[in-house]
Amino acid sequence: MWGELEQLGRAGTGGYRRYAWTPEDARLREWFAGQSAARGLDLVQDRAGNQWAWWGDPDADGPGVAVGSHLDSVPDGGAFDGPLGVVSALAAVDALRESGVRPTKPLAVVHFGDEEGARFGIACAGSRLLTGALDADRARGLTDGDGVRMAEAMAAAGLDVSHVGRDDETLRRIDSFVELHVEQGRAMVDMDAPVAVGSAIRPHGRWRYELPGEANHAGTTLLADRRDPMLAMAAVVLAARAAAVRHDTVATCGKLRVEPNGVNAIPSRVTGWLDARGPVPEGVLATVADVTAAVEEHGGRVEQESWTGVTRFDADLAAELAGLLGGVPVLDTGAGHDAGILSAAGVRTAMLFVRNPTGVSHSPLEHAEPDDCEAGVRALSTVLASLVG
Ligand code: GLV
Ligand code: MN
Ligand code: MN
Ligand code: MN
Repeated sequence: MWGELEQLGRAGTGGYRRYAWTPEDARLREWFAGQSAARGLDLVQDRAGNQWAWWGDPDADGPGVAVGSHLDSVPDGGAFDGPLGVVSALAAVDALRESGVRPTKPLAVVHFGDEEGARFGIACAGSRLLTGALDADRARGLTDGDGVRMAEAMAAAGLDVSHVGRDDETLRRIDSFVELHVEQGRAMVDMDAPVAVGSAIRPHGRWRYELPGEANHAGTTLLADRRDPMLAMAAVVLAARAAAVRHDTVATCGKLRVEPNGVNAIPSRVTGWLDARGPVPEGVLATVADVTAAVEEHGGRVEQESWTGVTRFDADLAAELAGLLGGVPVLDTGAGHDAGILSAAGVRTAMLFVRNPTGVSHSPLEHAEPDDCEAGVRALSTVLASLVG
């Protein structure tokens, strides 16, 4: 199952470029539909375009349990962030069937779309649309780097755009959700733990800032006559780093748009994106306030694109699952997940993490050893057997 998936959306860099509502995304959806059909599961697509493969009838016998993750990637992302959770969910269904478990509740494997927000900017767009955390009109109007609106991209992929939005019918079908994910840091390496249970997601958000300038000739414009927004951008990046140190947060300036983007022209405008996260919301917001001051000092402006406060997964369920798995560690994380969005919407939610020996993620260096992946599937099967058995 992993072999075919490994080829989809792979770039020459060795990383993956799997963006929402592209031909690569369509192939990932076909792959998921094929896996669902091969298992005789009933495939339904919700109003946000997320795919649900049901074992059992959620309308007659629900609400049921959902298990899954996403298949899209960041630019040049790793193989495991997202796909490990979907593949492990399918493998856990196989394991439950092989061991003769007859679920007392319906069980769905879910493939959430557009988790990374790499194309339209909003992370977890599929689960946010499903729960109503992302307004449908706002989503339809989001544009990618080429000016294509999300509504156009969805329509081109065959989704009924007028119907996109909070999907109560789907939400009524589930009472719990479990997401298995590769760890995106080093905590489990340091603890020598192949599997862990998630406790919380730290607050995080994305902001866009624009710095104005004046285009002019690179060879003839005196330094004194320039209005070069790239200098302002450099100051803003350094301000973000200093603010993160000051407020005990992390701040990343990972994406820029330079206009007109010519090697021999002073830019007319630079747009940058800030990703800021931390243990407490106050620290993150103080970081953003400092960056905003630096942007405004250079005549620019800042707009918030998304904000997710602290997410705490069901503490009783986390403790129960950690016990069930023989006392594995319980950890929080600085990475966002669809599980956080479902938890915030009131779904009883749990996460499992699988060790990543490199500690690196959002990069082709992300890794998980086969033995640890198998331990993850065993843990997920145990958890699902207890939730539906
Ligand atoms: C998702 O991986 C995120 O936390 O950015
Ligand atoms: Mn990710
Ligand atoms: Mn992920
Ligand atoms: Mn010339």
